[in-house]
Amino acid sequence: MVTPVMTQSAENFVTPMSVSALSQEKVFNQLFDLTDEAEMGHIELSRSADLIIVVPASADFIAKTATGQANDLASTIILATDTNVLMAPAMNVRMWENPLTQKNVKTLDNNGIKFIGPNQGQMACGEFGFGRMAEVDEILEEIELYFCDKKLHGLHFLVTSGPTREPLDPVRFIGNRSSGLQGEAIAKELIAKGAEVTFVTGPVDLEPPRGSNVIRVETADEMYDAVHSSLPADVAIFTAAVADWKIKNTNDQKLKKQTDKLPTFDLIENKDILASVSKLKKNRPKFVMGFAAETGNILENAKSKLKKKGCDCIVANDVSLGTKTMGGNENTAIIVSEFGIEKLPTMSKRALAKILVNKISQSLEGMDD
Ligand code: CTP
Repeated sequence: MVTPVMTQSAENFVTPMSVSALSQEKVFNQLFDLTDEAEMGHIELSRSADLIIVVPASADFIAKTATGQANDLASTIILATDTNVLMAPAMNVRMWENPLTQKNVKTLDNNGIKFIGPNQGQMACGEFGFGRMAEVDEILEEIELYFCDKKLHGLHFLVTSGPTREPLDPVRFIGNRSSGLQGEAIAKELIAKGAEVTFVTGPVDLEPPRGSNVIRVETADEMYDAVHSSLPADVAIFTAAVADWKIKNTNDQKLKKQTDKLPTFDLIENKDILASVSKLKKNRPKFVMGFAAETGNILENAKSKLKKKGCDCIVANDVSLGTKTMGGNENTAIIVSEFGIEKLPTMSKRALAKILVNKISQSLEGMDD
């Protein structure tokens, strides 16, 4: 059930009758309404909800609530509530970036109010930047996460994500197409289930999952160090596409083109982070999941990686160019463990994250029995 509350400004954009028709509920908009006070006081209205969502949260509303004002029904509800509040800001980019707004957001954040967005994009005023309201799907996803069962509470998960970059010189590097989307989806799912997440990420264009302890790295060596210094962990999940090799002698100066002479590079192999954690004698996580990025012989390669790396499970993906797995939103995975092989259909990385987290959670429960 959704109880709509509208401010006076909201009524300039959409009528209470439309909101009421869509939600099939009465719209509350008056702070003092004698009939409603008899039926449902504004204090009770603020307490009866499981979650309060402010969509869109204007700069004015954020300022008002950050200073504890309660001069209309919506702000009174925020001040009086003992329920969690989620705000989806939407405003002009300058208004969002104004230090006053940022200070207000920080104040609300310190008081436990959660924010989703704003996103970067085109705004109603014609300007471009941060200020565009989070997409409806993103808000729905956040709400869904909020109501998830928190069965991983008290457990520490370590997740590696994204690509690594191995420098050739100060401006060039060896990299790969990993977007970090799968690692991000897994971390989000873990956080939703109440886990403490350390998220070690290579350079990506994504915002790291809110609520995770983020460690940003660039090279495989940095990822190795970040992972080992984050242990102990109950579970480690290695989604990162780690570069297999680094340049033996990197150049401090930018390499210059030379007539009739091409540069040559000696490569050395990077340390295998997944194998190093799987084979730990002390502090080995109870469950270690690796990924396998393959372009051929997927199953055979996955089986041999499971053995060679010593992890508990390998999630194998076909990353051939046509599949768009690397960089795309979908994944077709095969889960390989000592208990067997499970071929999954193509699905969103988010859906796969849910399946994988459920499987890990079941394995952990099995260990407790
Ligand atoms: N991995 C790692 N450290 C490395 C290389 C890989 O932790 N130096 C991890 C990846 O995060 C992934 C798994 O090992 O979970 C398999 O990575 P993948 O790139 O598929 O295989 P490689 O071991 O690199 O072998 P190859 O490139 O020959 O397929």
